Amino acid sequence: MSAIQRTFLFTAVGTALTLFAFGCSEQSDAPAPPKPAERAPAPPPEEAPAKAPDTVPAEDAMAEADVATGKADYELYCASCHGKTGAGDGPLGQVLNPKPAHHNDGAYMNPLTYEHLFKVIKFGGASVGKSPTMAPLGLSDQQIHNVIAFIRTLADPPYQP
Ligand code: HEC
Repeated sequence: MSAIQRTFLFTAVGTALTLFAFGCSEQSDAPAPPKPAERAPAPPPEEAPAKAPDTVPAEDAMAEADVATGKADYELYCASCHGKTGAGDGPLGQVLNPKPAHHNDGAYMNPLTYEHLFKVIKFGGASVGKSPTMAPLGLSDQQIHNVIAFIRTLADPPYQP
C-alpha cells in the first residue's frame, strides 16, 4: 500500500467516523470522500457513452415546439450544410459527398418519422445508416424538437401531420 493510498484510506475512515459521530442528519453537509477511481482510473468502458443509448424521447413528452427558435437554431447549426431554406446548398454542404439532405423536398422528407429525424439529429447520420458527415451537434432534446418542427415547415409539398 503506497503512502497516497494510506492517506486516502485514513481520510475515508476519518470521514466515516465523523459522519457516524454526528449522526445521519449531518450526512448531506459532509464533503464526499474522493473516489478511488480518481487516483487509479478504471479502463474505459467498451462503448463510448454517446453511442450507447440510441433512444429518443417521445414527441409528446416535449414542451410545445417553438418554430421560431427552431429556425434560429437551424440557421446557426444546420444551414452551413443544408442551406437556409433546406435546399442542401449551404457552403459547407457543397464539398460533401454524399450531399446534405434537401429538407425542402417534401416527397423525401415527409415520410420520415419524428423518431427517425430526432435520431439523426441527436446521434448523427451513422446512427441510421447515413453518412457520418451528418454529425451530432450537441443540441438539447428541446432544441431538436424545435428544429424538427421548423424543418417540417420547409417541405414542398407541405408536411401533413
Ligand atoms: C457538416 C454538414 C452538416 C451539418 C452542419 C448538418 N448536416 Fe444534416 N446532413 C448532412 C449530410 C451530408 C446528410 C446526408 C447524409 C446521407 O445521406 O448519408 C445530412 C442529412 C440530414 C438529414 C436526413 C436524414 C435522412 O434520413 O436522410 C436530416 C434530417 C438532417 N441532416 C438534419 C440536420 C439538422 C437538423 C442539422 C442541424 C442541427 C444538420 N442536419 C446539420 C450534413 C450536415
